[in-house]
Amino acid sequence: MSGVVIVGAQFGDEGKGKMTDYLARQADCVVRYQGGNNAGHTVVIGGHEYRLHLIPSGIFYPEKVCVIGNGVVIDPEVMFQELDELLSQGLKLARLYISDRAHLILPYHLRLDAAEENCRGDGRIGTTRRGIGPAYTDKISRVGFRAGELLEDGWEQRLIELVLEKNKALERLYGSEGFQPEQVIAWLRPHAERLRPFLTDTSLVLAELASQGRHILFEGAQGTMLDIDHGTYPFVTSSSPTAGGACIGAGVGPTAIGRVLGVCKAYLTRVGEGLFPTELQGPECESLRDRGREFGTTTGRARRCGWIDLVMLRYAGRVNGMSGLIITKLDVLDALPAIKLCTAYRCNGSTLEELPGSQRLLQASEPVYEELEGWQQDISGVRRYDDLPAAARRYVERVSEIAGLPVVAISVGPDRDQTIETKPGSGLLG
Ligand code: IMP
Repeated sequence: MSGVVIVGAQFGDEGKGKMTDYLARQADCVVRYQGGNNAGHTVVIGGHEYRLHLIPSGIFYPEKVCVIGNGVVIDPEVMFQELDELLSQGLKLARLYISDRAHLILPYHLRLDAAEENCRGDGRIGTTRRGIGPAYTDKISRVGFRAGELLEDGWEQRLIELVLEKNKALERLYGSEGFQPEQVIAWLRPHAERLRPFLTDTSLVLAELASQGRHILFEGAQGTMLDIDHGTYPFVTSSSPTAGGACIGAGVGPTAIGRVLGVCKAYLTRVGEGLFPTELQGPECESLRDRGREFGTTTGRARRCGWIDLVMLRYAGRVNGMSGLIITKLDVLDALPAIKLCTAYRCNGSTLEELPGSQRLLQASEPVYEELEGWQQDISGVRRYDDLPAAARRYVERVSEIAGLPVVAISVGPDRDQTIETKPGSGLLG
């Protein structure tokens, strides 16, 4: 099988939802392998905007298979709201399978997320407060609640024990309110009913598809710089959005992956706290934010905006083993007379070509910029690479050269068809 992983090359919000939906046309199955409803993927089809948080972006193709893998944490209430909303819009959806090994986000995880953030004060991470960190903490601490437990008798008793244990942390450690166990059981019971038919060993589903030679697309959420190992720790999420996470989070071996496509915006954004060397302030930031509609799909928070950081992009290329790059939102730069690219950092008198692991070094780093001329014309209607203005092609070529990655596609607007393949006909999935 030649599985393809699609990963965020920056801090998330790169436009992976649109690109996964676009690539899903050529795939038979789309798998979410990590994260939860902290993610927000916007997909525009025929001018209509759909927002996904948990459901794989292949859901809009009824003939495809969609999988939520074991590496995802699931808030069942949010998931069914999302599913119901899609169904109420009259859509015919793909077949959906959910891993029996995926962990559930329970109401106490949300309360713990808020309590922990409030206690961090100035050191807060700026989490989405969706319970993601506490759910993964429980998984690693081996006190999580797996979806598959709902298939067996006695889950209510186990939940009572968990709630009582979590109440200790909520009440004694954080001075917050605990939960009545019956309240949590009553909340979960209807979701359990609906979840059961979807639950299965999704690794087996994928293995069977692979043995039939089907194309599987692994959809990462968030981005490389938010990865628990490879991101700007501790200002990261609690899972592994990088390509390696696809194996763990979907239950496939590395040999199942033939290609890794990285998605990056033509500029850079970040939500939440954490270092951002190329961040812009004031009107420069605001104009990118307004043109790019840079407000969180999940939390509505205004995103911090800045110039593209090619030190980070090179790093993302390396840690993901990227085969190619997809540049999104190139049209957002249309009006700019000049565009900057960060090619290296200046740090304590020396030049850094590689991203430092130390947050202190990154904090002390100043971006070294190369400046290119803007194209100052509307490119949202362009569909062929050669029809892009010369300055836009120059920009794409410089990103590709400095990042050391071939650019395989460019997105010039939110709609499916506002996509330019640099080598049309060669098949982005390889
Ligand atoms: P958490 O994932 O809610 O724990 O948040 C941890 C960090 O990751 C915060 O800075 C969030 O803003 C950020 N984050 C989480 N999910 C996303 C996403 O889908 N896009 C962008 N940032 C995200």
